[in-house]
Amino acid sequence: MNNTEPNIEKIYEENLKFWDDAWNRVSKPHKELPKLPYIHELTRKLKKFRVKKVLDLGCGSGWLSIFMSKYGFEITGVDTSKPAIELGTMWAKEDTANVTFLAGDLLNLPFGDGAFDAVVCNSVLEHFRLDQAKVIFDKIHKILIGGGFLFGCFDQVGTGTKGEYFELEDHTHVYTDQMRKGMMLRNYSDQELKELLSKFDILSFDKNNYGSRLVWAKKK
Ligand SMILES: C[S@@+](CC[C@H](N)C(=O)[O-])C[C@H]1O[C@@H](n2cnc3c(N)ncnc32)[C@H](O)[C@@H]1O
Repeated sequence: MNNTEPNIEKIYEENLKFWDDAWNRVSKPHKELPKLPYIHELTRKLKKFRVKKVLDLGCGSGWLSIFMSKYGFEITGVDTSKPAIELGTMWAKEDTANVTFLAGDLLNLPFGDGAFDAVVCNSVLEHFRLDQAKVIFDKIHKILIGGGFLFGCFDQVGTGTKGEYFELEDHTHVYTDQMRKGMMLRNYSDQELKELLSKFDILSFDKNNYGSRLVWAKKK
């Protein structure tokens, strides 16, 4: 590495620290259900597909995990941030919800092959470089059962003012402003998402009014 090349490992560590610090400032789980019409369709589809075990990637303090558990699914929620996981765990205990929360990096998911019937990835992938996204999608493919389902909401991001971030070679933005210092954000094109899903059959690929791509896919 020469002096002008960014140290991508250090940048990634700082991005993880950004999330830990952000969640450390939160004292209660975000319990209010966001106004996202697709989450009702999500549980309806999971039921229709006779799914039992669901993995919620980048679950934060757990609103989606707890929401899905109310429909009878067995949920595991994973997030890099220990403070977020502690909030979710506390909430699940209070609600006696069937959710296991685990602190961990999506790049090192500790699950074996075929461990889940479905994986949900809501507004999380945008925080990874393209090479990392490939690793995560390969792992998702492995930990799903044959014919298992993936639901993803992939937001349109990265429209911040230049100067508030610098850009890595693959166009990942690394924020430098005070609020988001260290956070990585990458906008995935439709084409890139479809390539990441090459080991899946894409069942639907829709765009909502905010430009988020709502994708259902099935392991081939
Ligand atoms: C934009 S929030 C979305 C949270 C939640 N999925 C939702 O829909 O509200 C991104 C979440 O991903 C988590 N996250 C970021 N990088 C991660 C990583 N490398 N491994 C696991 N979780 C990560 C963050 O801590 C944060 O909770």
